[in-house]
Amino acid sequence: MSKFSFLFFCLIITVVSFGGIVNGHGGSKVGIYELKRGDFTVKLTNFGARIMSVVLPDRNGKPADVVLGYDSIKEYLNDSRYFGAIVGRVANRIGGAQFTLNGIHYKLDANENQNMLHGGKRGFGQVTWKVEQHVKDGPNPFIVLSYYSFDGEEGFPGNVFVTVTYALENPYKLRVIMEAEALNKATPVNLAQHSYWNLGGHNSGDILSDEVQIFASHYTPVNKQLIPTGKILPVKGTPYDFLKSHKVGSMINELSDTMGYDINYALDDCDNEEDEDMRLAAVVYSNKTGIEMKISTSAPGLQFYTANYVHNATGKGGYVYQPHSAYCFETQGFPDAVNHPNFPSTIVNPGHVYTHYMLYEFQIKE
Ligand SMILES: *[C@@H]1O[C@H](CO)[C@@H](O)[C@H](O)[C@H]1NC(C)=O
Ligand SMILES: *[C@@H]1O[C@H](CO)[C@@H](O)[C@H](O)[C@H]1NC(C)=O
Ligand SMILES: *[C@@H]1O[C@H](CO)[C@@H](O)[C@H](O)[C@H]1NC(C)=O
Repeated sequence: MSKFSFLFFCLIITVVSFGGIVNGHGGSKVGIYELKRGDFTVKLTNFGARIMSVVLPDRNGKPADVVLGYDSIKEYLNDSRYFGAIVGRVANRIGGAQFTLNGIHYKLDANENQNMLHGGKRGFGQVTWKVEQHVKDGPNPFIVLSYYSFDGEEGFPGNVFVTVTYALENPYKLRVIMEAEALNKATPVNLAQHSYWNLGGHNSGDILSDEVQIFASHYTPVNKQLIPTGKILPVKGTPYDFLKSHKVGSMINELSDTMGYDINYALDDCDNEEDEDMRLAAVVYSNKTGIEMKISTSAPGLQFYTANYVHNATGKGGYVYQPHSAYCFETQGFPDAVNHPNFPSTIVNPGHVYTHYMLYEFQIKE
């Protein structure tokens, strides 16, 4: 079933990518789109290809919305926290907002000190995507969004055609398929899904007592500006060790410099038994709702972020989000890979397609 529908979506995307280039990209309006499969509902907007809500029943059958967000499009247009967004062209930080590729030096739009974060001021999370296809309900609800990124956008080389598909599968699975074709020049591409999860419910307070397991024996340490030093170090004996499931808050106070977790893990090769294209990245559980989420990915890295810089953010239903009100599990290539030849390459050559597959599997436990 899962294998079949996966191939089915790949097929759709292949068809869509050609149509998308031919038809161009103008005239898309920002809207809200729903995917619904029984009591599992995901709301999205094509502004930033963002997830606005993920609702499923908790252990008592009560609907829980497990991502942070806003009620209205207007608030998303003004959002500086990337709530629910697909971030790119290059997710995470690029040190000094520059890199050299094939002998050409590229200067990028710096939007965090002198560095670039999540693709610049107007990255993929801040642009309007085109809705290519939308099937709201039935056994395989899905939406396909596309964006045509032009040569020189935020300083990046070459035209890139990007699609993201969100699909619901039986019973509580959310699949994300990200693809990006470099059309005429070599360019770095690194996309990440930036939802702020709180499995206790978006309005349930902090996530410090939730249990997290991250399948990574190594991480990439960073300097004060959160730029990787280039080292890949064992997590053993550090507060970054989540190899065994434990509470998010149990060692978080040792990370006073960053006020919590904001670090990239080099994922181990733990196969997801149901899908050999992906590795198991993390498992999260909240005892408040009994909801567990398992994240699998085809990407080599995972940025674990505990919403350290979210202060007084008025979100859905007027609820005010504070630091540690959510966790992000941004599977992706390693940060600043363009400046670290020892990291897995994020370069896509012309005519080649970047792919990043993700699967969120939810389970309701006692
Ligand atoms: C936009 O966001 C800023 C802070 O990020 C906030 O101060 C301002 O009130 C917001 N404006 C609107 C119209 O929501
Ligand atoms: C989980 O929460 C229940 C109350 O809902 C409590 O009785 C129980 O001790 C908690 N379990 C753990 C492991 O914290
Ligand atoms: C958040 O709001 C409280 C109460 O209004 C205020 O005291 C505090 O300074 C605010 N924090 C930030 C970081 O804006």
